[in-house]
Parts: sequence; structure tokens; C-alpha cells
Amino acid sequence: MIRIGLLTSGGDCQALNATMRGIIKTLLHETRKVGERVEIIGFEDGYQGLIYDRFRKMDSHDFAGILTRGGTILGTSRTPFKLLDVPEADGVDKVVAMKETYHAHKLDCLFVLGGNGSLKTANRLSQEGLSVIGLPKTIDNDTWGTDMTFGFTSAVEVATECIDNIHTTASSHGRVFVVEIMGHKVGWIPLYAGVAGGADVILIPEIPYEMKNVIKTIERRMETGSRFTIVAVAEGAISKEDSKLPKKEYKKKLAARKSPSIVYDIAKEIEKQTGRETRVAIPGHTQRGGAPDAQDRIFATQCGVEAALGFLSGKVGYMVALVNGKMTHVPLDKIAGKLKYVDPKSDLVREARALGINFGDR
Ligand code: F6P
Repeated sequence: MIRIGLLTSGGDCQALNATMRGIIKTLLHETRKVGERVEIIGFEDGYQGLIYDRFRKMDSHDFAGILTRGGTILGTSRTPFKLLDVPEADGVDKVVAMKETYHAHKLDCLFVLGGNGSLKTANRLSQEGLSVIGLPKTIDNDTWGTDMTFGFTSAVEVATECIDNIHTTASSHGRVFVVEIMGHKVGWIPLYAGVAGGADVILIPEIPYEMKNVIKTIERRMETGSRFTIVAVAEGAISKEDSKLPKKEYKKKLAARKSPSIVYDIAKEIEKQTGRETRVAIPGHTQRGGAPDAQDRIFATQCGVEAALGFLSGKVGYMVALVNGKMTHVPLDKIAGKLKYVDPKSDLVREARALGINFGDR
């Protein structure tokens, strides 16, 4: 008998269920050949389920028909890594409790579907002696050690559709639209959706902007007869001036900001300096919602299958990854705590610039 645990942690995304289905279908298919049984323990709401031993015994039926379903059938929550050694409000020691739960269920492996923070915790549990396999989940695509994360392409699809829809109304009214796109501290979704949706300006954290360059682009478009401009802005976009501030000071500045987010300040400045009616559009959490797109279904399935096959061949303590087009395994301690940023010199940025898209830096 093989006993495995499963949990989804952190912000959800569209392809979590598809990934779990890939793990379980593979495990059941491969073990059936040798007459072995698999017990599946699904922990509810991420690491909280592991801490408080909230679980469901699951079987193949639970994973049927979920390939196309967004969200997570297990539920999720955020258990910040930086607070891992701070006891819960009721005094529970999180790491001790998670180890106890793991051992109480006599687990052979815990599969963790999570982003950067969750994978840091997975690495900690691995260092504490548990058998853990990480799977790279996040719409942000910022997990170090893998070229892609599941959730990313679906989020790009939603953000692109938003920019597409904004185009028609912006054009009718002759307005400037500032569209805020998720991505946390990196610019992968805004860059991809900005190019896919034909944005005129793309502002991402990796390329600090100056307002004068954004204004110049809008004015040039107006002079040449364009009725509208679409500015795609990463939620983490930062001005050149702010990028020079020490981290602590910048955080203080953000905390003191009166507007709900940077796009409102950018929109206000654009309207003031160009005289053009300017609106803000925020797709927000819709970018994490709905069904996974075809690419995500494929990649999530690949991750699930490789995680299960790796486990069956005795490989634990790593994250499943895509590197240079090949599925592989990267040790958890090599990826923990690192972020994958957009390279400002990458082909896509270069090509976007060649198209005339402005990144606000020149
Ligand atoms: O990490 C995924 C993500 O959607 C980020 O893009 C965004 O900054 C954050 O999560 C939003 O978090 P929450 O769902 O807690 O508001």
C-alpha cells in the first residue's frame, strides 16, 4: 500500500485540478500494473489542513471530470513562510503539527501544488525529513527553476481578453485606458497579455518607467491620428525614481499611498498632462478564475504525470520543472527563495520595442 498526501497552497489558479488529476491518474494507472493499492489523503485549504489534520480520503472518482474545472477541489489558503515559526493564534507550532500529521497518516510522500512561498515551506518540510514533491503553480510565472508555471497561460488569456474588450470602448470614446494586470513583483502576465492584446505601452517592474516617456507615446499617437491608447500596467510597476529608493523607504511610500493602486496615479497624471479622458480598468481576480486554457491543461497534466512517475521511481525533495522545453526535476533547496524575473533584454521585450510598444524607460 502506498499512502500519499495532496495539498494546494497559496493563491489559486485555473489548472490546479488538472494537475492533481494528472498525479492521481498516473499513480493509479502505474500501480494497478503491479497490483499495488494507493491511499489518497487530500488536505483541505493548503497547509492549514496539514497543520490541523483536516483531510478527505479520496479515490479516483474525486478526480474524474475535473480537467477543465478552475479553482481547487481541495480549497486553498495562504500560510506565509515568514510566519512558519510563529505559533498559530491557538499556540500550535505549525512545523511540528505538520510533521505529526504526515507521520500519523504514514505518508510516503506529500505533493504540494504551490507558488514561491508554498515551495519554500515544502523545502523546509523536506529538510525536516518529510518526502515532499513540489509542483510549480502560479499565474505569475515567477517560480525560479522552471520556464513555466501552470496557471500562467490561462491568466494571460483572461488579461488579453480584457485588453481586447477595452480596445473597442477606448476607440469609440477616444480615451486612454490604463489596465492593471496581476503578476505580483514580476511582469510576465502584463508583458505577454500586453503583446497579445496590442497594448501601446507596457509597464513592468523589471523596466522602471518615467511618466514623461508614457506621455510622449500618448501624444505621438494623438498627433498621428490614433483616437485611443492602451497602457498595460503590472500591479508591481515602479517608476525610475522609486526604483532608486531603499526597499524600506519604498515600502513606506507604498503604505502611505492614497489611491488603491499605482494605475490610478498613472491615469491621473496622464489625464492631467495630455488632457485626454483617461479611465482605469482592473480585471483583478478574474485573471485567476474560470477554466484552464488548452496549454495550461497540457502543462498541468505533464507536471502531474512527471511528479507521480518521479515519486514511483523514488525521487523526492524536488520540484517538477520545464527547462529548455524538457520536463525535469529541480531540487527544492535550489529554487526556494528565488524569483524568476522578466529579462529586459529578452527576445519578446526586444520584439515588442521593435513594434513600437513603449516600456516607459525611453
Ligand atoms: O500570486 C498570484 C496573485 O494573483 C498575484 O498576481 C497577486 O498579487 C496576488 O496573488 C493576489 O493575492 P490575493 O488573492 O491574496 O488577493
